Amino acid sequence: MCELRVMAILMCPPDHFGIEYEINPWMNVAVEVNHERAVEQWGAVERLYNQLGETIELASPVAGLPDMVFTANAAVLWRRRAVLSRFHHAERAGEERHWRAVLEGLGFDVREVSAELSFEGAGDALFVGDHLFQAWGYRTDAAVHEEVATMLDVESTSLELVDPRFYHLDTCFCPLDDRTALIAPDAFSPESVELARARVPRLIEVPAEVAAGFACNAMPLAGRVISSSASEAMRGPLREAGFDVVSLPVDEFMKSGGGVRCLSLPLELGLP
Ligand code: ARG
Repeated sequence: MCELRVMAILMCPPDHFGIEYEINPWMNVAVEVNHERAVEQWGAVERLYNQLGETIELASPVAGLPDMVFTANAAVLWRRRAVLSRFHHAERAGEERHWRAVLEGLGFDVREVSAELSFEGAGDALFVGDHLFQAWGYRTDAAVHEEVATMLDVESTSLELVDPRFYHLDTCFCPLDDRTALIAPDAFSPESVELARARVPRLIEVPAEVAAGFACNAMPLAGRVISSSASEAMRGPLREAGFDVVSLPVDEFMKSGGGVRCLSLPLELGLP
């Protein structure tokens, strides 16, 4: 069957971005975001995606929802289905109806997890090939993993996060292609590292101090790994694995606990 694959990346401009509450160890309301720098850094990510031939879909930012800039947390997507996030913290719950509207507008069949469970989308759910890895420990309930896998009709492996700095899977794990992923082993229980090892043929290990610079919070695109300045430290090992590193400063967003990947939700807008 011939399938037209149209790829795009969902982003949300940082108009209303700021540190207005503290829901992870990186956030400190006393630290001010330099708005101009945030706009510049976000714009550089968007420009690079454009230069690499990606289409950008923009979600409209909403005043009072400063974390909407982190589109990775909208939902997990697979084919034409979306499982919408149900945020663990009340501070982000207001985003949910906006993400539903955005995803429906893009043509996704939007599903939801059981009311009492929390789930934070592509922040905690990432595919290596057609196998889904889902994390639990901070934002997403382990009990939701099976529901999500069933709704998407995929196999899933559950990984336990154990370091609050790495509160989302996408801060410490990054699929680069169908058989390769970055992983910061210290962020996971030893059993979970073994589960990942058993499933992913090539795991590139990232030291915790490099991952703490949001190096794993990366976007693989056209043979490149696009990530924060900290990803410079991974240039050697990534080159050996056949990937080029493109590092961009995203320190304004790191003040909120996010990097390049958090700002990006890859969409597959192919026609079935
Ligand atoms: N301040 C946001 C939060 O704590 C940051 C989200 C980062 N996104 C991500 N996909 N890791 O929820």
